[in-house]
Amino acid sequence: MSILITNIGELVGADSERWTIEDAALVIDGDRVAWVGAAADAPDADEVVDAGGRAVLPGFVDSHAHLVFAGERAEEFAARMSGRPYAAGGIRTTVAKTRAASDDELRANVRRLVAEMARQGTTTIECKSGYGLTVADEERAVRIAAELVDEVTYLGAHVVPAGTEAGDYVRLVTGEMLKACAPHARWIDVFCERGAFDADQTEEILAAGRAAGLVPRLHANQLGHGPGVRIAVEYDAASADHCTFLSDDDVAALADSETVATLLPGVEFSTRQPYPDARRLIDAGARVALATDCNPGSCYTSSMAFCVALAVREMRMSPEEAVRAATEGGARALRRTDVGHLRPGARADVLLLDAPSHIHLAYRPGVPQVARVWRAGLSV
Ligand code: NIG
Ligand code: FE
Repeated sequence: MSILITNIGELVGADSERWTIEDAALVIDGDRVAWVGAAADAPDADEVVDAGGRAVLPGFVDSHAHLVFAGERAEEFAARMSGRPYAAGGIRTTVAKTRAASDDELRANVRRLVAEMARQGTTTIECKSGYGLTVADEERAVRIAAELVDEVTYLGAHVVPAGTEAGDYVRLVTGEMLKACAPHARWIDVFCERGAFDADQTEEILAAGRAAGLVPRLHANQLGHGPGVRIAVEYDAASADHCTFLSDDDVAALADSETVATLLPGVEFSTRQPYPDARRLIDAGARVALATDCNPGSCYTSSMAFCVALAVREMRMSPEEAVRAATEGGARALRRTDVGHLRPGARADVLLLDAPSHIHLAYRPGVPQVARVWRAGLSV
């Protein structure tokens, strides 16, 4: 089955020389992009879609989300908006609700959010465990995530559960829990932060994960300055996520590394914190990604378009930088070369906007602008 999308006003991410092409066409064959070029030269296909001069982008790559949970924390959000600070301890509220839920309830919640994301143009999703915090509850979280998303992360080290001694919990996370979770996951993550896991614990957990075949990524420098970014770079993590409070050394270390700085501006929006300084990172030469961090506590948005708009308005990113960070940046943060772009050979994850250019994502914040989405060549 082939699909020709023609009369594309602006085709984004389909050519390594030019980030956008005007008056373009794209052919999907099966689950792949088979051809891109000038609309006038387009070959025939089984189905033809007239883009009507609108923009076509790669589907968004949301490289950071926590979707396996039950319940919500709207009251906590409301309290924050009237001045209460965000605290990592809120995670335990969701842990209690998640443990009490059935597999089917958790599965339904992930499915609901994946569908919500797909409708908004997100075609690659990373999902973490971290609201179970027992061997059985973490194992089922990564198992259910693996059924429904592309990329699965074992985050047993989200917080130390109530009533457990930290040393005992680290032994569990690096021992029995890791053994149960590793077969379902590609990545290992730690919430390296005051109130969660310190530098020594983080290194021990990443090292154990690596020995079990998992690749590190890290929650780093979200709530204050700390060792997270340094450790992420030392462990060659694919990504250091949040990066809100960075020293000059942190910025230099990221710029000198392959570790992507994944910025999650929805979190700063939803916790009333200062935004990360994307400009400082980009100007230093660091690689940057944007993701939602969709979770019931610190940020319950599933909208990559909203994150793009925040990044442009609040983090001094240009619309091009923000959209690149939300597509190719996310792919890099997941070490994927088949998504985040539309060059021939890419997975056919295609977003047809109801707008003439990518700029409209930030220019018209909050306005639904997704006309059609294909994931692996199939209409979503
Ligand atoms: O990425 N920072 C740690 N974990 C999540 C928040 C989880 C929660 O509050 O439930 C985050 O912000
Ligand atoms: Fe997170």
